[in-house]
Amino acid sequence: MIEIPPDAPLTPEQVSTITRQTNYGTWRFQKTWQPLHIADAEGCWFIDGSGKRYLDFSSQLMCVNLGHKNPRVLEAIAQQARELCYAAPGYATTSRARLSAKLLEVLPHGLTKFFFATSGTEANEAAFKIARMFSGKSKIVSRYRSYHGSTAGSIAATGDPRRWAMEPAGKIPNVVFAPETNCYDCPIKHTYPACNIACADYIEHMIRNESDVAAIVVEPVVGTNGVLVPPPEYFPRLREICTRHNVLLIADEVMTGWGRTGRWFAVDHWNLKPDILVTAKGITSAYVPLGLCATTQPIADYFEDHYFSHGHTYEAHPLTLGPAVATIEEIQRLNLVERAASLSPYLRQKLLALKEKHPSVGDVRGLGLFFAVEIVKNRQTKQLFNTMRDKVEGKPLVVDRIAAKMLAQGVAIQAWVSHFIVAPPLIVTQEELDLGIAALDEHLAIADALVEA
Ligand SMILES: Cc1ncc(COP(=O)(O)O)c(C=O)c1O
Repeated sequence: MIEIPPDAPLTPEQVSTITRQTNYGTWRFQKTWQPLHIADAEGCWFIDGSGKRYLDFSSQLMCVNLGHKNPRVLEAIAQQARELCYAAPGYATTSRARLSAKLLEVLPHGLTKFFFATSGTEANEAAFKIARMFSGKSKIVSRYRSYHGSTAGSIAATGDPRRWAMEPAGKIPNVVFAPETNCYDCPIKHTYPACNIACADYIEHMIRNESDVAAIVVEPVVGTNGVLVPPPEYFPRLREICTRHNVLLIADEVMTGWGRTGRWFAVDHWNLKPDILVTAKGITSAYVPLGLCATTQPIADYFEDHYFSHGHTYEAHPLTLGPAVATIEEIQRLNLVERAASLSPYLRQKLLALKEKHPSVGDVRGLGLFFAVEIVKNRQTKQLFNTMRDKVEGKPLVVDRIAAKMLAQGVAIQAWVSHFIVAPPLIVTQEELDLGIAALDEHLAIADALVEA
């Protein structure tokens, strides 16, 4: 029993301690979890319970694309609450109609029918079920360096080590993994462009030999697993392979959508037309939990005469849809897609300067306001300081040491195994970029000291 006097304010320590004692910290060993109390946030900054300010250099989980507390979105939340908080998914609502019309304006052309969920995970589950129902086939091809969500289906399609704890019983069968596209450290040891995009051709080989392949799911720019940008030929080739073999192409734009890469959607860089596009996060700037699974008209037509066997109580929840309309309008009004594209060369050049200076920086890559800085023990061999196994075994990681130092200095950055993800809100200023990069610059010395001579 935790006694809290109803009117007394909680101290930051109480907030943190109660949370830690009574909640699970996600994707981690519990004993080292000391959650920081976030009390407020505005623009590119958040503020802890003691009043200390932090630059949000990865937009929380690469999701607060508009920055915190955008006044028009806050008003849309309040307005939607006053108007209608809930209606069962079988009903039509004004916010549902407005958002659907708005989506037709900004989504890649051809995506015309929508299923609304409350997370990226659920939107991917919907995509996999729809692909299986529509095609009558069962297998999903995914890639090793990927994350598609935490539930049985979406974790099964996740290539990264978050899947391992669920092997083999806690995930659904019928997912096969392909090598990812990683031109810095190619998993099949080729070199671009001489490789002639062998990683795409290998997927065709898999489709031929697996048979029964319903869909391939790809993050167009791999997110948490390293901001891996494919070469220009990759997606045209993959699209052609999928079409020829009658395999659906699912683009998981949960992280890459909504201007993050300098286009509305990452697929727009290659004019790629997916059969299904999944998104979440930036669709509401994460202020309210919304996921979207968007499909083409042929898929929509199929379900006119076939049972659409999927749904949730919270599908098309009005409180998530009204704010999404306001978020998209704000992205347009503030020209944030163009802003991400125009700030990108500056950010790239500053990060490349870090690579020049620090022997521990192996690679810098990205698009728009979405970059990875990968650190290595040895630039020649590209050997990392830590492995994915270290991560799931709770071993101290060099990236986490650096991120902790940066946090203490007032810059919050996401780190994963061996790289940092630089993904500030799209409203970020050059001065804020300078500040975040200066903190990384300072603390990369920790990794430099561990580089092999
Ligand atoms: C590419 C991708 N897909 C799916 C997900 C899962 O989304 P959510 O955490 O909203 O369930 C994530 C989350 O980070 C993601 O980055």
